[in-house]
Amino acid sequence: MKVLIVYYSTFGNTYKMALEVAEGVKAVPGTIPVIRTVPELIPEEIIQSREDLRRGKELQKDVPLVTLDDFREAGAVAFGTPTRFGAVSAQLKNQIDRLSPLWQEGALEGKPAGIFVSTATLHGGQEMTIFSLLPSLLHLGMIFVGVPYSVRNLFTTKGGGSPYGPGHVAGDNSQRELDSDEIAILRAFGKRLAEIGLKLMK
Ligand SMILES: Cc1cc2nc3c(=O)[nH]c(=O)nc-3n(C[C@H](O)[C@H](O)[C@H](O)COP(=O)(O)O)c2cc1C
Repeated sequence: MKVLIVYYSTFGNTYKMALEVAEGVKAVPGTIPVIRTVPELIPEEIIQSREDLRRGKELQKDVPLVTLDDFREAGAVAFGTPTRFGAVSAQLKNQIDRLSPLWQEGALEGKPAGIFVSTATLHGGQEMTIFSLLPSLLHLGMIFVGVPYSVRNLFTTKGGGSPYGPGHVAGDNSQRELDSDEIAILRAFGKRLAEIGLKLMK
């Protein structure tokens, strides 16, 4: 069973989170992670004019754009986004708005899905961002998956991560690396999503 990990990332943090979700998926026999990104909306001349943007994009240059077939073939889906003014990024939302053919087919109904998020600051809106995407997942008929407190790192994290989904605090220059609690939560989430996907396929 394929677990689709579809994300948007400007500076690379959400991309690095996607890699950790994939590690969690790999721990579940019979499942494979499929990492995909979404179309960029920042004009190319702006990206080329900023070193931090160029570096973030260089990191992800080999990640394919997601297709509708990637969604059709997936048994579970993880959505990743940076926070934009307390809500989902326009780039990921734009991709979700392109899913209306699948909505009409009911192709995503009954598939488990969860959301991981990167913010600059601790209270910058990780939970708000996750909730800003929840209506879309429910309209598509997906089954929302978070992170239970049996994942003990939820008690110790000084960065991101909550029962609503994994998170990362990237810092005001977006250069803070993922810490060990954030990584453990991301991996536990990937594993859980894969396990639930397998159960729902039976
Ligand atoms: C337009 C814009 C709005 C943002 N809004 C927020 C915000 O509401 N809260 C926050 O903590 N960070 C905010 N940020 C910072 C981003 O969330 C941060 O750069 C991002 O998590 C880094 O992820 P990435 O490396 O995957 O792009 C904003 C950044 C931009 C460009």
